[in-house]
Amino acid sequence: MGNLIAEAVSMGWMALAIIAGLLVYFQVSISDPAAKKRAVFKTFIGMVSCLLLFMAIANYKTNFYGESRLLPVSLVMITVTTFVMALYFTNLSALLKIGGMMFFIAAFLSGYGNWLPQVEGGFPPVEEKKTWDSMTPEQLADEGEKIIFGGVGKNKEQGAIGKGQCPLCHAFHAGMLGERAPNLLGIPERAGQILEDPKYSKGDPSKREYEQKEAFPGSGTAESGLEYIAESHACPSCYVVAGYGVKGTNDKQSPMPAIHKPPISLSLPELAAVDIWLYSREGRDAPSFEEIVKAYEKFIPEADRPKQEEEKAAGATSLMADGTEPVDQILAKAQCVACHTIPGIPGAIGTIGPKLEEGTTAALRLKDPEYKGTAKSATEYIMESIVDPSAFVVKPFPDNTMPKVFGQKLSAGALKKIVDYLSQVKTGAPPPKIS
Ligand code: HEC
Ligand code: HEC
Repeated sequence: MGNLIAEAVSMGWMALAIIAGLLVYFQVSISDPAAKKRAVFKTFIGMVSCLLLFMAIANYKTNFYGESRLLPVSLVMITVTTFVMALYFTNLSALLKIGGMMFFIAAFLSGYGNWLPQVEGGFPPVEEKKTWDSMTPEQLADEGEKIIFGGVGKNKEQGAIGKGQCPLCHAFHAGMLGERAPNLLGIPERAGQILEDPKYSKGDPSKREYEQKEAFPGSGTAESGLEYIAESHACPSCYVVAGYGVKGTNDKQSPMPAIHKPPISLSLPELAAVDIWLYSREGRDAPSFEEIVKAYEKFIPEADRPKQEEEKAAGATSLMADGTEPVDQILAKAQCVACHTIPGIPGAIGTIGPKLEEGTTAALRLKDPEYKGTAKSATEYIMESIVDPSAFVVKPFPDNTMPKVFGQKLSAGALKKIVDYLSQVKTGAPPPKIS
């Protein structure tokens, strides 16, 4: 499009130059004063329309808020052109005027059919159909990065997080602490070594001492590093990295959710894309897409594989919770429970962030001389803490630890349920009812 515009613009200039030349030529070649006047008049009209055309073309792209109006604008331009030509070729004038009128009507109709609906919200968005098998390894790696971090190139951004939610727990770069989960740098290489760990019990799942012995009865253990990664995603409690188990289970149970299951529900192609990113971002040759999908098929039975339809529905909104769920489920789906202790919510025993007793604490925060946020009431403060965690950072907790995505990833209804619940949690009082 850019090239086309540049070309059209230079053609506009050329036409202008030719007409200017004509003007000079008429001055010297035509002797009859009346004919000379007419010729000068016509060339002026020609110049003006050329200028207009030139401006129209130059603005073609930037106008209309970046939306293409190629058809109606072209038709309007053709209409004008035919009328101007009628001026020059007087013997064809009637014909051209009729033609011009027809184009005018066409322009009007296409403008009506094409313009109005777009202004009112437009055509349905082009459906993004993912054809996984036809993607290059680079495109698959980009998809993987989008799933993990929410966008291409976001892997080093603080707090970036995508549908896969991995950065809630995992660090991905050298020097970043992985206190909640292992740093995933080097996982392609490490994966092969873990198979040799006697506790992994390669080839004999019955000897495992973990909560789960196999991903499903008969699945067996991984035979390669690639399969280990697939198994880690599908069955986190089949092998638990020492020191990272759920507290009190003696590393028998993993806190990591199985990522092909709700709420994360990645499909097999999505899981494969994640793995390809894990390999290729370290400059390694990733196994082929088909090989990886096969590795997942070993650990995820047919019935447990997320359907393509579900994937689309989740992808369209990519909400963690839509607000129809009871509040305990919302808090679990959004992983608040992994970081916060929340009275009355089963499983909410996290200690990465403060205990949430906002019925008592929110008012204290507002009175804190260091509070610089914009909230005026307790409920506003709670909402602000969730959608803009850096507005006020609770001491002694670090800034930038709580994800900054909840404003986009939770529906308004879900946010309201959370705020309602948290505002009723008071220190020393029995927890509110879950609704
Ligand atoms: C709620 C926290 C949490 C989330 C979310 C999470 N993980 Fe994990 N993950 C863990 C913990 C804890 C471990 C270590 C215990 C274990 O082996 O299961 C782990 C282990 C792993 C391992 C094995 C690591 C090793 O060194 O052997 C891989 C691979 C992995 N996770 C990948 C992922 C990916 C990819 C995602 C996102 C799609 C993800 N995890 C999401 C907590 C999480
Ligand atoms: C990865 C860990 C993490 C997750 C997940 C997380 N938080 Fe937090 N949250 C923190 C940390 C750390 C703080 C303290 C620092 C700050 O204020 O930003 C905090 C602060 C807060 C506060 C302010 C508390 C106070 O006493 O003033 C609220 C409210 C809160 N979080 C709610 C939530 C809710 C609701 C969710 C889920 C939708 C959630 N958090 C998810 C880590 C997390």
